[in-house]
Amino acid sequence: MGLCKCGSSSILVSMNVQILPSLLAADFGRLADEIRRVADAGADALHLDIMDAHFVPNLSFGPDVVELCRRVCPSLFRDVHLMMTRPDLYVDRFADAGADALLIHVEADCDVWETLRAIGQRGVRPGLVSRPQTPVEVLYPYLPLCGEVLFMTVNPGYGGQAFMPEVLPKIKALRAHTPALNIMVDGGINFETSALCAEHGANQFVAGSFMFQQPDMGEAVRRMRDLCEKQGNGF
Ligand code: DX5
Ligand code: ZN
Repeated sequence: MGLCKCGSSSILVSMNVQILPSLLAADFGRLADEIRRVADAGADALHLDIMDAHFVPNLSFGPDVVELCRRVCPSLFRDVHLMMTRPDLYVDRFADAGADALLIHVEADCDVWETLRAIGQRGVRPGLVSRPQTPVEVLYPYLPLCGEVLFMTVNPGYGGQAFMPEVLPKIKALRAHTPALNIMVDGGINFETSALCAEHGANQFVAGSFMFQQPDMGEAVRRMRDLCEKQGNGF
């Protein structure tokens, strides 16, 4: 992961290709083993999906699971995606639990600018997420505060959905607008769709069901990273 000095005036980010398995697709009966499996696979970070049954129809898990990840693999970066109507009310809870990055939706019912600032002030990397239908321009005013921007490539709420190619032009537009920015994609990501997103300018790839279905997650992480590095050469 790149260096991040959130809370100060400079946010230093790396443009490396990064692969982030999403814990939502793990076997919850053996959660600690699944967290270790992600670390052993050489993944760059663990993606943690928090759903509040209001912003999205589904419920997932809360800060206790983030804390479990820190306890099991302290050095594995915890990238926490808040699919919540009021993420502003939970910044401290997730920061205390060990979130390394906290991503909020631009469509959330809170002061987005102030919430991103509060995340940075806690020493956590702030990130901004948009639904597939949200125009990319909506993100622009907040970019000075963002360590990463996440484009949902499915409608948020459930794992295992089909990738939406209509998001690709938004990735391309943001990469052209802000060349040195971490751009992440999430939803329906596999070898083929990750390469497609890399070609359009993404450099961080969240993969849930695809990664956890692999008999050898380490091999899949390496292969996805290779494919995306090759495809991403152009941007
Ligand atoms: C969906 C979540 C995703 C999800 C991705 O709302 O934000 O992170 O885990 O799952 P897959 O890779 O199965 O589409
Ligand atoms: Zn997610």
